[in-house]
Amino acid sequence: MKNLTLVFFGITSNLAQKYFIPALYDMCEKGVLPDNMTILGNARTPMDKAEFASYIHKVLHLPNVHHQHSIQEEFFKKLIRKFHYLAGHLDDPVFYTLLKHTLDHSGLQDRIFYLATYPDLYHHIFENLKKVSLNKQDQGFVRLMIEKPIGHDLKSAKALNTLLLKYFTEDQIYRLDHYLGKETLQNILTFRFSNGIFEPLINKEYIDHIQITASEDFGIGQRGSYYDQLGALKDVGQNHQLQMLAFATMNAPAEFSNEAVTRQRIKILQSLTPVPKKIVFGQYAGYRKEENVDPVSNTDTFYAFKTFIKNDRFKDVPVYIRAGKKLAQTVTEISIIFKNPINRLLKNLDLGEEPNVLIYRVGPNEGIVLKILTKVPGHEIKLEPEYMQFCYKADLHSHIIPDPHERLLMDTIHGDQTFFNDAEEVEAQWAFIDPLANARGKPHIYKVGTWGPKEAGRLIEEDGRSWLEPSMDFCRI
Ligand code: BG6
Repeated sequence: MKNLTLVFFGITSNLAQKYFIPALYDMCEKGVLPDNMTILGNARTPMDKAEFASYIHKVLHLPNVHHQHSIQEEFFKKLIRKFHYLAGHLDDPVFYTLLKHTLDHSGLQDRIFYLATYPDLYHHIFENLKKVSLNKQDQGFVRLMIEKPIGHDLKSAKALNTLLLKYFTEDQIYRLDHYLGKETLQNILTFRFSNGIFEPLINKEYIDHIQITASEDFGIGQRGSYYDQLGALKDVGQNHQLQMLAFATMNAPAEFSNEAVTRQRIKILQSLTPVPKKIVFGQYAGYRKEENVDPVSNTDTFYAFKTFIKNDRFKDVPVYIRAGKKLAQTVTEISIIFKNPINRLLKNLDLGEEPNVLIYRVGPNEGIVLKILTKVPGHEIKLEPEYMQFCYKADLHSHIIPDPHERLLMDTIHGDQTFFNDAEEVEAQWAFIDPLANARGKPHIYKVGTWGPKEAGRLIEEDGRSWLEPSMDFCRI
């Protein structure tokens, strides 16, 4: 039987610790990790088998908002049997000879290379894999999983795409934005296109505006050297938030295939209008004192901007997008705010003008809810907003909502690229973000635990609207 080896470059990275290792544990516990699969972790630090096992054990017991259920020793042991470790520097050709030797030892195999490393190592990795023929598909498939961001602007993204295509074909490249693997995002497609009753409302006739929020109440932690180079807009705006918008506004794909779904996402991304005058950047107070951050850094930890989708369906419907760290609350959601009919009944009563809002809550309290007005029970006519809700029947300790990395790894194993970005898609994202990033001046400093600088409020208020305070009143666990 052919084996499958997943070579994970950067097994000690933040990404591996926060998402990947816990996802592998979950897969092991659920029994979905293929029997023939081995995971070969790599990092620079030399570790023997026992040290590596204790590292994995420690990672699985770290506090992790994404992975709060308990670790059972039985499954940990099962997982660790699949793991191997090979220390080495990724710019050192000797490491690849060793890697080749180790892999060849396991006979015929499919291979997945997962890159959780600094981008300046990419060209060493590709070139050296080629030198020892590890990019050849003569034994089985060879696939490459590469994390966002792809490049740091359009030019560097194009250069990286060109570099990738020098060593691999597009069908081998899995550009990963973990938001595409989120159950809550994928469900937007089902909600919109597998039900008949909502989609007719998703257009300029009914929608007043759209808001997308991705706020976090924590800071950058140990990630200063990565984050300070990029800032919020490039860390989550160029990718996660644009994808959220694409899922919420794309046209129905002709079929559920990689080509059709990706094409519709790209169409939205290519039709976004950047408005450099309508972006506000912020930085949380104290950011410059964070580890590995330039003490005079102007890097954004917050942004809010307004944009439009240049197509007939959403003509003149403004989209307001904001994200940031050390804000009031951790919450990610898309809100579609509907127009009020002119002759709405009881509009003169208290709350009578409250709009209907469709909320795709990506987390926490995951679900899809519709904010509606209801009558307060009793003799008087009083109105009150309520939520009609679909919630995941999940609690923190269940696995009903799989980690996106779990889903995306399975898709890579199965060769399904529907929820990965191709070169054109990534470039469309940068073509939109570049003019906004170029408008970045000194960020407004904001107080920790707020909703960002007041200028972000003004951005939307000058249009006679306001940011919605994300509600915790629905889908409570
Ligand atoms: C990552 C960003 O891609 O996404 C982080 O680098 C951010 O800065 C994270 O915190 C958010 O993802 P999630 O799944 O926690 O919403």
